[in-house]
Amino acid sequence: MRQFVQKDSSMIKNGTDIIFSAQCLREGGLVAFPTETVYGLGADALNPLAVARIFEVKQRPTFDPLIVHISEISQLEMLFENPISPIVYRMADAFWPGPLTIVHRKSGIVPDLVTSGLNTVAVRMPSHPVALELIRLAKTPIAAPSANRFGQLSPTKPEHVLKQLTGIDYLLSGNEKMGGIESTVISIDGDQCFLLRPGAISLSDIRKIVHCISRGQNQKEKDMPSPGLLKSHYSPNKPLFILEKHTETLPDNSGLILHSKSDLSGHATKTIYTSETADHIEIAANLFTALHLMEDDEAVFQIFIEPVEETGLGVAIMDRIKKAAFRYL
Ligand code: TXA
Ligand code: MG
Repeated sequence: MRQFVQKDSSMIKNGTDIIFSAQCLREGGLVAFPTETVYGLGADALNPLAVARIFEVKQRPTFDPLIVHISEISQLEMLFENPISPIVYRMADAFWPGPLTIVHRKSGIVPDLVTSGLNTVAVRMPSHPVALELIRLAKTPIAAPSANRFGQLSPTKPEHVLKQLTGIDYLLSGNEKMGGIESTVISIDGDQCFLLRPGAISLSDIRKIVHCISRGQNQKEKDMPSPGLLKSHYSPNKPLFILEKHTETLPDNSGLILHSKSDLSGHATKTIYTSETADHIEIAANLFTALHLMEDDEAVFQIFIEPVEETGLGVAIMDRIKKAAFRYL
């Protein structure tokens, strides 16, 4: 088991050494790594002591289960209980590698700490080349939540990880741009599919492959808790308000996050555009970075953010915005 001696994030080793990172993971260490959605904080999913470090470093309550990351579809046989629903393979064929997480009954090999004692486990195969190579070299499935402190903003850049975490062995950086919105989480039970968390893959894309019930219609939700559905999550450390259509003035020291050109920008202390044309992919990629920049600016006392249309990826974007603003709604 590796020892953690860093007192602050300036002591975290970081770079692009995948072989060193994989070795850290095999030895029970913690490695933050890039995925196509956000940075993850990884540990060997089959080593409960290593997984325990994730909860400690993130200050995450142990009732919130982790996603296990794999590099080959064949690893499902080790993680999921037999018989594996054929729908799992249909979804994996359609969306993996990529930002879809599948929850299914778990096998005995998965530590209870990973699943918070649930009889199901969440698994995904990321498409980011660095993440895939890391998992392949580690030769073990990697449990990884987003690499932020519990409840705070998800990281889309190495500096976002350094801002929030200490006590990790290595920060593995990647160059590719990230999608910025976490994976879509679905649960598969026999021939039924439930959407647990909206994310980078839209419900309509999923419904091209299988019928899937969104959580609002999900009568069995009580039986399949997804603690990540907490109403408040992904929050910046200062008040965040969703902009109303008819807002004409903003209080002093307001930060303003817009997704397209607007007259309002003149009224704010600081304005950040996630997109100039309300492009959902651009907005998703820049959303958490914009919130981090507002959080870091001492001249900004409160943040206002424009809502987006809730279609396609816009559903997941608004889910994150509402959760980030929940305390102030
Ligand atoms: O894009 C992503 O999914 C990123 C990258 C790093 O892969 N990971 C991520 O992990 O967002 P995290 O821990 O922030 O969110 C995991 C979500 C939570 O909402 C959790 O409650 C849910 O997955 N989850 C995990 N295991 C579950 C299970 N057995 N049943 C229901 N929900 C589960
Ligand atoms: Mg998270």
